Amino acid sequence: MLAPHLFAVWFMARALQPSTIVESGVWKGQGTWMLRQACPDVAMHCIEPCQSRIEFRDERATYHARDFAVGSWDHLDRERTLLVFDDHVNALDRVRQARELGFRHLILEDNYPVPRGDCYSLKKAFAGAGFSSPGDTGGGRYNALLSGKWMRRKQACSSVRPNPDDARYLNRHLEIYSEFPPLFRPSRTRWGDDWTDEHYPTPPALLQEADRDRFPVLWREALSYTWICYARLKC
Ligand SMILES: C[S@@+](CC[C@H](N)C(=O)[O-])C[C@H]1O[C@@H](n2cnc3c(N)ncnc32)[C@H](O)[C@@H]1O
Repeated sequence: MLAPHLFAVWFMARALQPSTIVESGVWKGQGTWMLRQACPDVAMHCIEPCQSRIEFRDERATYHARDFAVGSWDHLDRERTLLVFDDHVNALDRVRQARELGFRHLILEDNYPVPRGDCYSLKKAFAGAGFSSPGDTGGGRYNALLSGKWMRRKQACSSVRPNPDDARYLNRHLEIYSEFPPLFRPSRTRWGDDWTDEHYPTPPALLQEADRDRFPVLWREALSYTWICYARLKC
């Protein structure tokens, strides 16, 4: 995560004040570090298949190498646990899994718009767009690090046909779906085309271009924004 999503997750974690955070997708551990700054006393579970890549290890967190869907979470308070998914796995599957397990609060980092990104997102599901990327199971450069078992899990859910059912499912089961605003919204996207609301519906940016000299890092990293969202499941 770069500045737009680091700020978004920090802000949402501070606002939600969870007792436990489950972070799926650790990479080197920067997100783990940021979550600890946001919630100093929170219990943390960090899931990462490539454990040897982790550079920052939170000494009070519990680390797991098994996928969220097959974890043992019975002991967690469903109302006060925040699930943070930054693992490039099908986001609708993550919502379904969270619902089946009785969790309510999710942050989904890779919420790419149609037709962008390397995995199926809630934004694509709401648009009814499906997801197809032949040969790419989602996860881009992270796939090279996954063992056969993890890749087979991803391949099983990589392609989704365009359909209205996924949006219906989300409308039926979500109490809140909220995309966190970008910090800055430059005129062009990271893909080089115009950042219009027609092609990329986006909440209003928190800062204006006139603020760029005051926040040079935020401006420089503005294009890393991928419509990160908070989703709350109904009781
Ligand atoms: C974008 S990186 C995570 C970045 C991290 N959240 C941060 O802020 O620094 C994605 C990570 O997800 C991991 N990953 C891939 N499949 C996964 C799965 N099924 N469950 C959890 N993590 C997974 C990859 O190995 C990779 O380290």
